[in-house]
Amino acid sequence: MQFIDELPMPPQDALVHCNQLIHQIKDEIEQTEQGISFRRFMEMALYQPGLGYYVAGMRKIGATGDFITAPEISPLFSQCLARQCADILEVLGVGDILELGAGSGIMAADILKQLDVLACLPEHYYILDISPELKQRQRETLQEHVPHLLDKIIWLEQLPKNFIGVIIGNEVLDAMPVDIFHLHNGQVQQRQVIWQGDYFHYKDIPANKMLLEKVQSFNIPTTDYVSEINSNLNGWFLSLSDSLKQGVILLIDYGYTQQEYYHPERSMGTLLCHYQHRVHDNPLVYPGLQDITASVDFTAVANAASDAGINVSGFTTQAMFLTMTGLEALFTEYLIKYPEQQYTLAQQIRTLSLPAEMGDRFKVIALSKAFTSTLIGFSQGDQRYRL
Ligand SMILES: C[S@@+](CC[C@H](N)C(=O)[O-])C[C@H]1O[C@@H](n2cnc3c(N)ncnc32)[C@H](O)[C@@H]1O
Repeated sequence: MQFIDELPMPPQDALVHCNQLIHQIKDEIEQTEQGISFRRFMEMALYQPGLGYYVAGMRKIGATGDFITAPEISPLFSQCLARQCADILEVLGVGDILELGAGSGIMAADILKQLDVLACLPEHYYILDISPELKQRQRETLQEHVPHLLDKIIWLEQLPKNFIGVIIGNEVLDAMPVDIFHLHNGQVQQRQVIWQGDYFHYKDIPANKMLLEKVQSFNIPTTDYVSEINSNLNGWFLSLSDSLKQGVILLIDYGYTQQEYYHPERSMGTLLCHYQHRVHDNPLVYPGLQDITASVDFTAVANAASDAGINVSGFTTQAMFLTMTGLEALFTEYLIKYPEQQYTLAQQIRTLSLPAEMGDRFKVIALSKAFTSTLIGFSQGDQRYRL
C-alpha cells in the first residue's frame, strides 16, 4: 500500500479494510491486458459491495468524517429547498418527494420539518441511496429529528414508476464515477489504472470512440491537458425520465458550464479526494477510505437531461437560489427565536452564500417534465443562457 506523508495515517482496522479492496481491484486488473478504466477504479473505490467508500461502515459526512456538505452546515439550506418543494407540490396539487443520495439524512429531516411548518407535507418522502451504511444512519437521524413523520419516509431500492412530485439530490452528481482523458500532442488518451511494484499507477491508452468524439467536441486548444467526463449521465437521465411522470428535479452541486470546465487554464482537471478534512489529488491511494469526486459539467447535465426528454427549467448559483427561496427571511425568523445564535447563523449563511465559499462554486439546476410554472428559486438570476 502507498502512504502519503501529508495525510493522517489510517488506523489499523481501516488499513485491513483498504487492503481487502486493493486485492479485489488488483484481481480485476490482472484479468485485463491494459488495466481497468479509471471510471471502473473509482466505481470500485467508492461503491464495491461491502468495501467501497460509500458502502462500508465508516462515518464520512460531517464534522467527524471526511467532508461537510451544505445541509450539514446549516438547516437554513434545507429550509430554503423545502420552500421551493412546497411551491412545486402546491402547483401539482398532490405529490411526493424523492431524495437521491441522502447522506446522513439531515436534509430529509430539515425539509420535512419545514414542510410540516408550511402545512405542505408530501404524501411520501422517498429516499434512494446506494449505500446500506448511510441508509442505517438516515434512519437514525430521521428517528431522532422527525419521529412523528417516520411513516411518510420510504427507502427505495430503485427509481419508482410514474413519479409525480419533486426529485432532489445534493452532491450526488459529483460522487459518480468519471473517465479521465489526457490530451497529449493532439492525441486523445484515456487513463487506465494498472498495478505495478505494489502500487496502482496510471497508464494512458488511445481513447475509445465515445470518449474521443466527446473530447474533440470540447475544442481544447492545448497540447497537454487532463480532465474528466461523466459518461454515466445519459443512462442516468434516461432512467430518471422513465421514472418521472410530472414534476421537477433539483440538483445541487459544485461545477461549471462546459466552457468553464474545459477551459485551457484548468489543465489538471477537477478530481479531488477528501480524507479527514484534508483535500488532495491522488485517487489511487487509500481506496475505500477516502472520497473521490469530480466537479460537475452542468452543460453535459442539461444536454443529457434534454436528450432524455426532460426540460431544463433553471440554472443558477447556490447563493442566488437561497436568496430567492427566502434565506434572509428565514434568518430573521431564527434570530427572533434564538437571538443568542446570531454569530453562528451569520457564519453559516456566509459559508453557504459568499462567492468565495459555496455561493458561486455550487450551482442549482432545475429539470422538469409536464411542469411549466415559474420556479421561485430561479425567478431572478436564471443563467440557463450560459449552459
Ligand atoms: C457526497 S454524498 C452527499 C450526501 C448528501 N446528499 C449531503 O449533501 O450530505 C453522495 C451521496 O450520494 C449517494 N449516491 C451516489 N451515487 C448515487 C446514485 N447513483 N443514486 C443514489 N445515490 C447515490 C451516496 O451513497 C451518498 O449518500
